[in-house]
This record gives sequence, C-alpha cells and structure tokens, in this order.
Amino acid sequence: SFVESLPKTWLRANLTPNARVILEKRYLKQENGKVAESPEEMLYRVASVIAQIEEKFGKGKKEVKELTKSFYEMMAKLEFMPNSPTLMNAGRDLGQLSACFVLPIDDSMEEIFDAIKNAAIIHKSGGGTGFSFSRLRPKNSTVRSTGGVASGPVSFMKVFNAATEAVKQGGTRRGANMGILRVDHPDILEFITCKEDNKEITNFNISVGITEAFMKAVQEKAQYNLIDPHSKEAVGQLYAPDVFTMIVDRAWRNGEPGVIFIDRLNRDNPTPQLGEIEATNPCGEQPLLPNEACNLGSINLKLMVTEKDGKVVVDWERLGTITRTATRFLDNVIEANTYPLPAIEAMVKGNRKIGLGVMGFADMLILLQASYASEDGVEYAEKIMNFIQTEARLESQRLAEERGNFPNYKGSIYDGVRPLRNATLTTIAPTGTISMICGASSGVEPLFAVAYTKTVMDGTALIEVNPIFQSFAEEYGFNSPELMRKIAEKGTVLGFSEVPNWVQEVFVTAQEIDPEWHIRIQAAFQKYTDNAVSKTINFANEATHEDIAKAYELAYELNCKGLTVYRDGSREEQVLSTGIAK
Ligand code: CDP
Repeated sequence: SFVESLPKTWLRANLTPNARVILEKRYLKQENGKVAESPEEMLYRVASVIAQIEEKFGKGKKEVKELTKSFYEMMAKLEFMPNSPTLMNAGRDLGQLSACFVLPIDDSMEEIFDAIKNAAIIHKSGGGTGFSFSRLRPKNSTVRSTGGVASGPVSFMKVFNAATEAVKQGGTRRGANMGILRVDHPDILEFITCKEDNKEITNFNISVGITEAFMKAVQEKAQYNLIDPHSKEAVGQLYAPDVFTMIVDRAWRNGEPGVIFIDRLNRDNPTPQLGEIEATNPCGEQPLLPNEACNLGSINLKLMVTEKDGKVVVDWERLGTITRTATRFLDNVIEANTYPLPAIEAMVKGNRKIGLGVMGFADMLILLQASYASEDGVEYAEKIMNFIQTEARLESQRLAEERGNFPNYKGSIYDGVRPLRNATLTTIAPTGTISMICGASSGVEPLFAVAYTKTVMDGTALIEVNPIFQSFAEEYGFNSPELMRKIAEKGTVLGFSEVPNWVQEVFVTAQEIDPEWHIRIQAAFQKYTDNAVSKTINFANEATHEDIAKAYELAYELNCKGLTVYRDGSREEQVLSTGIAK
C-alpha cells in the first residue's frame, strides 16, 4: 500500500482517554480480534489517502506530503473531523466514505426490493439511507398483474425496517433510515400514526413532507387535496388544521413524526434540471436527489477562539484556514470514495455535494461568555456560519478553476453566476460520535448537562463535570466537590448562589432554554447553510400541544427546512437524561 508509516516527529492526537476507547471499539483496524492501529495511525491513514488524490490533479510528491501533514494536523488537533465512515473506511477494503444516502423507491415490486437490497449494502458500510415512500400507490388500490390490492407505503416501511434489523451493520454501526411521506399522499393519516407504538419501525425516523399549499390551508382553515401519485389527480380531501393537530399530537407524545418543508428543499435545489428532491438522510440535515450521497465533515468551534487583550474572541484567521483546508479535504473524499452502486457514483460525481458544518458551538459560546438563549448567541451563530459559507464557496470556486466545475453545473442555479466545484458546501450534522471523539458539544446543540452522575461497572457513582465549567470554577473560585455533586443531582446550575450569575447564564442547558431560542439558533445557522440543520427542539415535560404547534409555526416563519421536537420524558428509553445517567 502507498500508505507509508506515520512519521515519528508528527504530533500525537490530542484525544481524551474516553475518545481513545470509542476509537478502539469501532474505528481502528482490527486483526484477529485485536486492535491493529493506533488512533494516530488511523488519522494518518485517512490523511494520506485523501491527500493522495491530488496526484490525479497534477500535484507532485512534495505537495502531496505537505497536504497530508495539514490534513493530519487539523484532525490530530481535533479542529476538524470527517464523518465516521471516512474515519472507519478510508484506505481499507470497504472504502465507503459517505454518511448520507437517498435511494429512490418506485412503485413496483422489483424497484421496492431493489431499494431494500441497496439499503442493506449501504448500511453494511456505515452509511444511513433516506427514502420517500410518496411514489407508492395508496393502500387498497388495485394491482394490475394480480388483481389483488396494494398494501401501501406504511406496510412496505415495515419490510424495510425488518431488513435493516437483520443487517445491523456487522460491527460498524446500526442501520439508520429516514422515511418520508408527502402530506398530500392518500395514506398520510396512517403514516402520521405509524410510530405511535415506540416499539414499531424502530430503525426509522419519520417525517411528513409538508407543502406550501398545506401550510396555506392550515392558516386559512381549509381543506386540501390528497393526490394519487400515479394519476396526479385529486382523490380526496382532508381538513388541514385537523391533520396539523394530529402531527402535533403525535410529536407531543413521543417526538415522531418530524416535519420537513419539502417545497423549501426544492426551492434551494441547486440542480433542478436533474429532478426533484423528495427525501433527506436519516437525521434530516442532508436533502438529496434520488441515488445521491454526500460526505460530511465538521469544524470544532470550541477550538476556534483565541485571547486578545485579555479577552476571549473568535479566531477568524484560524477558522478561515480550517474552512479552506476542510473544503479541499471533502472535495478529495469524493474522488477517494468507493461507491456502492454505479448510479450513485454517477450522481455524486455529477453534483459533487459536500457538507461542511460545525460542532462545539455551545462550547464556543461559553468560552466567549455568551448565552445560547440570547440575541448574542443568535448573532454569533449567523456570523460564524456566514463566514464559513463564504470561505467554503471561495475555496470551491478556486477548486473549480483548478479542477473544473461540478459536471452538472450547466443548468444549475450557479450556471453563469460563479464557477463552483461543489453543488452544495454546507450542512450542520448532529456529530453524534465525532463530537465525542473531539470532546466537544455536539453540532449546534446547547449543553445537555453541566455535571452528571455516571455509574461505572462496579456500581460506583462518578461525577462528570463539563471541563469548561470545571476550569471556570477554579478560575473564579467556586470549585468544591460538594457543589459539583449538588449540581449533578439537580442537573442544572440555575439557582446555586455560589455560582456567579453570568456563569449561570452561559451554562444554560437544553431543558432550560425556551424552545423559541432553540428555533432561532437553528434558523440562524440555516440562513447560511446550503443543505439543512440537524437540531432537536427540547421541551419540558409540562409543555402543551399548543407550545408544540407554536414551535412548528415559528420554524416555518423563520425559514427552517424542518423541525424535530422532543418533550422530556416522552420516550421510555431516552438516550440522554439529566440526574442519573448510565
Ligand atoms: O458523528 P458521526 O460522523 O458519526 O455522525 P453524525 O453526525 O451523528 O450523523 C451524520 C449522519 O450519519 C446521519 O444523519 C446519518 O445519515 C448517518 N448515521 C447513520 O447512518 N447511522 C448512525 N448510527 C449514525 C449516523
């Protein structure tokens, strides 16, 4: 292999012991059941495979080596991390580097089961799949070849779900799916209620594809048409406010379904000449055309600050450098990638979408001593993402001058506007695992807890304190184990007189933040993001249906592309919870 060994003088990755454990479990090469590479070797494997691509574009050995070093360093310092499949698979047999896929489902048995097979292949490599079920004929319509009746989208979703359950992604990660149905599909009511039982269709997130016509009918308290996907004719009507209330009610009960504003995804479709966007990836941040995939990567904002005249400020220069290097890295990933299907390879190489985003936004705000639930927080969100978007586009333009526009440029929204190497540049991912690897708060979410109790294997309870809170406690003189224990029990710092007021404000956690601020932060990032933003809008357990309805209306008004809500305690197995976490 061309991957030589890691130069001895290169810096050691700045990983916590926890992060090293995560890498050992899932990411590092294994041989005979034993870990066969160090985290540094993994990062070097990734950096060299991705830099090597430059030879294809005429770069010499020396330049490739320099670039390998820049790629390695920004990962080893935890300033940037690509999505998990890139870390796991670059330079290895699978070679599948993207986290996000959308597969088409056409209305025939052959095509439905092709999609199931293709999803299984993608899940095996650590990718997640999104589907629109909107093209399937409604339940009980006739099937010409057999004279029988169709079972409808929801029953097929159950088949996809069972297939995913069986694959379980052999050692990398559990298969994740997104299922979408347009609000004007005749089976919409069955879809909205299909996850009422938490034990059903567990390998899917579901979202209703909300149209502008539907929102208008909700506002005007009117009926709207249900459309047959084949004839495109109206085959029935529903009273829009009732359907809206039903969505709100199910979301209030257990967070499902979410909504996506499907017409907005298409308003921002960069290549409308290729067809319509019908679906997103599993967590909703990446709208894609049928058979399209996208590779993501995130900048760790926690590290994008510096001290100036004794004050912590945003390190714009560093942020600019990392944005440019990361854009180049992600464009190279498209070349280094091994695609699961020829149709996917053709679509990805035609549009060259990448999704550069951020993690550690909450950490950054804390370091800047700004509250997430404030105008300052919203202003930082806009400024940061505007800057990243602008720099990434400039870099993509430079890459286009070097390597050519994305092949489907002609007829795209950029045609004649500016050269561009990538049809999209930015996406805000959840960064579920890479934020743990980087020791940063996830994506653009607020902190979940300042301190919490963790029960380790032998039953002892350890108190985990947010490292920035710990350092503030030392610096501003309120550090005591007793206080930390009390905070961990209560799950919040609000109301502890030992903690200065401004510290209480900047350490506000997800549960305490008014949903309106959650949505305003999401909207601020969305304003400067080509794709979409992964975000959960947290509600207290006592939140009412009306609170949830208002959140949907606000998200719509503020130009969000979708919304996911979660009311505390509304699911039995909650991944994260304050108080005692296991
Ligand atoms: O942090 P990491 O790179 O592992 O992933 P993420 O940012 O939490 O998730 C990004 C995307 O990866 C999701 O929206 C899914 O498309 C995909 N994913 C998946 O397929 N299966 C998972 N278990 C987690 C993520």
